[in-house]
Amino acid sequence: MVRFSDRSNSIRPTGVRRMFDMAGDDAVQFGLGEPDFQPPEIAIEAFTRAMREGRNKYTTTAGLPELRRKIASMWHHLVPTLDESNICITMSGTNALLDIFLATVNPGDKVMIPEPYFPLYPPDVVICGGQPSFYPCKFENGFVPTISDLEEIVDDNTVAILYNFPSNPTGGNVNEEQRDELVEFARSHDLWLISDEVYDRIVYDAPHVSFLGAGYDKMVMIQSFSKTFAMTGWRIGYLLSPDDGLMGELTKMQYYVTACSNDAMQYAVLEALEKAPEYPEEMCKEFKERRDLICERLNSIPGVSCHVPTGAFYVFPKVEAPGLSSDQLAIKLLEEGVLCSPGTAFGEAGEGHLRFAYTIGRDDISRGMDRVEKALAGLTGSSELD
Ligand SMILES: Cc1ncc(COP(=O)(O)O)c(C=O)c1O
Repeated sequence: MVRFSDRSNSIRPTGVRRMFDMAGDDAVQFGLGEPDFQPPEIAIEAFTRAMREGRNKYTTTAGLPELRRKIASMWHHLVPTLDESNICITMSGTNALLDIFLATVNPGDKVMIPEPYFPLYPPDVVICGGQPSFYPCKFENGFVPTISDLEEIVDDNTVAILYNFPSNPTGGNVNEEQRDELVEFARSHDLWLISDEVYDRIVYDAPHVSFLGAGYDKMVMIQSFSKTFAMTGWRIGYLLSPDDGLMGELTKMQYYVTACSNDAMQYAVLEALEKAPEYPEEMCKEFKERRDLICERLNSIPGVSCHVPTGAFYVFPKVEAPGLSSDQLAIKLLEEGVLCSPGTAFGEAGEGHLRFAYTIGRDDISRGMDRVEKALAGLTGSSELD
């Protein structure tokens, strides 16, 4: 008899991937969250050079000390005492997430997760034996949770809360005052504060507001170079915590998950940080233009309303489509040649929404929006006839 674990049986493939697999070649692709840029040329050269120079071996589990020192220095404006011991290089933010739940969650423990959420969060908690408890990030509150919503959900079994700003899928973001309240909530319940800040370099209109250095050290930050240097396929990121005990446990978990990160790639990332520090800002300028374009187009369509996000490269508009679920609507749009993700791919609270990733050029955005406009007008037309 073939038998799989309950853990594996309980987890479904993500809705984002499902739509992607259904899309035809001519669809305008607002589906996947990865920059349509290439990594800095200097990093590609350094990667190749490092391999030729023999950097093809295991590294220490926490990663290349020079790279960790460089990363620590990048955060000294928030926590001047950070050093290489506060950082563990991982093979992506995805890897970092798993390490955290492995190190902090016991069977039966609850982890508070935002909803709508990045689809890996709940399964990761489940894989580690825990239970996700969802707190709402509502459209009317700019996708930032209220403290009373959090208080309603927290209980004695809750060990951690995960914040994700700028957010995937909503593009929601916090200001300092909101951040301080969220930190205070974690402190008042003695929770691990897990802050997923992989979009920290893709912010518009105001500087990034980090949860690091906000006066609560029982925290860990998830970071990734996927978006920062458009290297999603490289798989490299890091964990950073001011808590030495936690860093020890995370590094131990990292050893058992992947032993260490990629040797040559760490030299390439170091080169990018040192020699192409302006790269993320340059990329961000283009994302800002696209954000302005897509928000303007969406907000001009009857029945669609959309916040103008201040970070990441997603919009999560509310879309009126009488009689259609967000899943059905996304499939209708796909038939009209537009690939986006149904809001429910990010949890039930995403019903009534669609997610568009503006990781395509402005001409394609305009072409896609023309199709969305036409498709939605068709829907309204038919519902009026009904
Ligand atoms: C919010 C968030 N966290 C973490 C990740 C993981 O990124 P990676 O595994 O590419 O580093 C992603 C990727 O889309 C994300 O959107």
